[in-house]
Amino acid sequence: MTASYEVRGQVAVITLNNPPVNGLGYETRKATAEGIERANNDAAVKAIVLTGAGKAFSGGADIREFGSPKALAEPNLLSLIKVVENSGKPVVAAIHSVCMGGGLELALGCHYRVVAPGTQVALPEVKLGLVPGAGGTQRLPRVLGVEVALNMIVKGDPVKSEQLAALPGQKLFDQLAEGDVLEAALAYAQQVADVRPLPLVRNLKARHPEGDAYFQFARNTVKAMAKNFPAPARCVDCVEQATKTRNIDDGLAYEREAFISLMMTPECKALRHAFFAERAASKIPDVPEDTPQRKIEQVAVIGAGTMGGGISMNFLNAGIPVTILETKQEALDRGIATIRKNYEAQVKKGKLKQDKYEQRMALLTTTLDYADIKNADLVIEAVFEELGVKEKVFTTLDEVMKPGAILASNTSTLDVDKIAGFTKRPQDVVGMHFFSPANVMKLLEVVRGAKTGKDVLATVMSLAKKIKKTAVVSGVCDGFIGNRMIEQYSRQAGFLLEEGATPQQVDKAVEKFGFAMGPFRMGDLAGNDIGWAIRKRRYQEKPDMRYSKTADLLCEMGRYGQKTGAGWYDYVPGKRDAIPSSVVNEMIEKHRAELGITPRKISDEEIVHRLVYSLVNEGAKIVEEGIASKASDVDMVYLTGYGFPLHRGGPMNYADTQGLFNVVQTMKRFAKNPHDDASFWEPAPLLARLAAEGKSFN
Ligand code: NAI
Repeated sequence: MTASYEVRGQVAVITLNNPPVNGLGYETRKATAEGIERANNDAAVKAIVLTGAGKAFSGGADIREFGSPKALAEPNLLSLIKVVENSGKPVVAAIHSVCMGGGLELALGCHYRVVAPGTQVALPEVKLGLVPGAGGTQRLPRVLGVEVALNMIVKGDPVKSEQLAALPGQKLFDQLAEGDVLEAALAYAQQVADVRPLPLVRNLKARHPEGDAYFQFARNTVKAMAKNFPAPARCVDCVEQATKTRNIDDGLAYEREAFISLMMTPECKALRHAFFAERAASKIPDVPEDTPQRKIEQVAVIGAGTMGGGISMNFLNAGIPVTILETKQEALDRGIATIRKNYEAQVKKGKLKQDKYEQRMALLTTTLDYADIKNADLVIEAVFEELGVKEKVFTTLDEVMKPGAILASNTSTLDVDKIAGFTKRPQDVVGMHFFSPANVMKLLEVVRGAKTGKDVLATVMSLAKKIKKTAVVSGVCDGFIGNRMIEQYSRQAGFLLEEGATPQQVDKAVEKFGFAMGPFRMGDLAGNDIGWAIRKRRYQEKPDMRYSKTADLLCEMGRYGQKTGAGWYDYVPGKRDAIPSSVVNEMIEKHRAELGITPRKISDEEIVHRLVYSLVNEGAKIVEEGIASKASDVDMVYLTGYGFPLHRGGPMNYADTQGLFNVVQTMKRFAKNPHDDASFWEPAPLLARLAAEGKSFN
């Protein structure tokens, strides 16, 4: 059933019924249009109420139809809204819970709207790189005024119905219903059953007293806010049209054109890709959605250092009690002080209320004794990155933790299977690789060991949602998905320096491409000594692998980055601004001369392609080896953990937009560069195959 029909007294009730949020898919649209027609043909019916079953009035378009011909099949949403507007009998929308996107556009086509308090009202299309496509930009300004409507359309965030109903002069809602919204709408429908002419939003006017100046201001604001995305500026154009065109149909046609042209832009495609990639990441191919989950009501964290504190905050924020265990009281005190400092900064900025802060701190306890954590449902280890230390911790956990507890490690480089092997319950062991700062970064790599139980994976994936992380499953390998790829990217960045680029040129090129931070500024932030330690290990493990020595020379100068006041850049104490360093540039030039390389000018395009294609090639290997189950998972890791520009949709999606054939051709060209590493540019078999077949990753 997709929309039901019943008659109550003299009122026909059409109920959208397409779980989970009554998306306006083809069958639902068709059944709704038929319901309106049926009610109009029934002499006993005097009015119609349109509502939604379950958890929503309607969440808008049915995302399952995206990109399929069904999305456009008649009656499409525009036609359905026309059917509603043309109904000879009044249609009253009974709105509750969620009224978004196409759902709101449909409601705006109704003659009257009765709403329940607490309803989330939004036109979120901009978040997918679009303007609302079924009249939202034309009708919302007519009922809410230009400024309120434009703000909602450009931001796309939900606003509560009672807030909108309280706006002076608003015509969005005819009644804010206390009690049952359907009953209220039925009563309202009877009251207005004979009122003619029927009111229509399309007959109202959208006006702004200082239109030109206001729209100019809006355009400037939007440009600064969303420089890589065309949709917000198009939203401004559309709303401006609503105030300028005499006939709403001209405005609707303008909006439609904007919608269709945006649909084809790479930015919109990237946003849609990211939207679906995020949903896909939460699904693990061999772990069914109905896999039973373990209850997580109490969490323990081992280690109160940089990561332990941030990890704990995630659970406190979600209302889950945490106990932190340390070896020394001083370490606990330091860790707790950092957590307090973080929360206090949020309170100061007005982002957190004082009472919420206290509630969260009240959920936190500390201990030096394993006996105090034995009943935790999940324990996350975040101690020093040394296998010996991890061994001690996991052996103890195995002894003390209650049966069924999940034992997780936040290790970033160690073998999760080895760690699981320290216990007699490897099925309960999993990697939970948070990113620093762990209370801020969205990404969580869930590392699946060879024996990790499916119920453990299912539990951790759903817990990740609760603590508002984007979880991506990774198999066990050195560096997992993200850091394994970044190592190749860093190697390539080193080769660029040897050949003639400066750190600032490389960073600038990559930042212009859209990265939050170039590789050298990132190194200074994370600490250049981390990469140094990894390279020292690599020199032993893989003596044939080529690295540029510049980063080692930098570390030998004690320039570890911001924490030592100097890295690839100079820093003024207490500030984070990266100042180009003549000392570093001289070091690079000297090293280049020793290698006998004559520097050449490297274009920004070459810099970007060499760096991004290093990620792509390693990403392809990761997918082929099954470390990531799909290319879109690799994209999610980079979008949420590594500052990859959202409007490019992740490295694999970017490669797709360039065409994999072209990517391979470019890599072959790089392989011929005598100062680069030909083996580095050997296309991964998956990439080579897809390119040869004219296919793409996603
Ligand atoms: P950290 O050095 O800041 O903190 C480690 C804490 O563990 C210290 O407070 C120490 O007193 C405590 N500790 C050491 N041995 C212990 C034991 N046997 N029992 C209880 N507590 C013990 O280290 P950080 O940076 O927090 O790293 C922790 C783990 O997280 C490591 O495995 C690291 O690889 C991983 N990681 C670190 C990231 C980072 O950016 N710092 C990012 C992702 C993972």
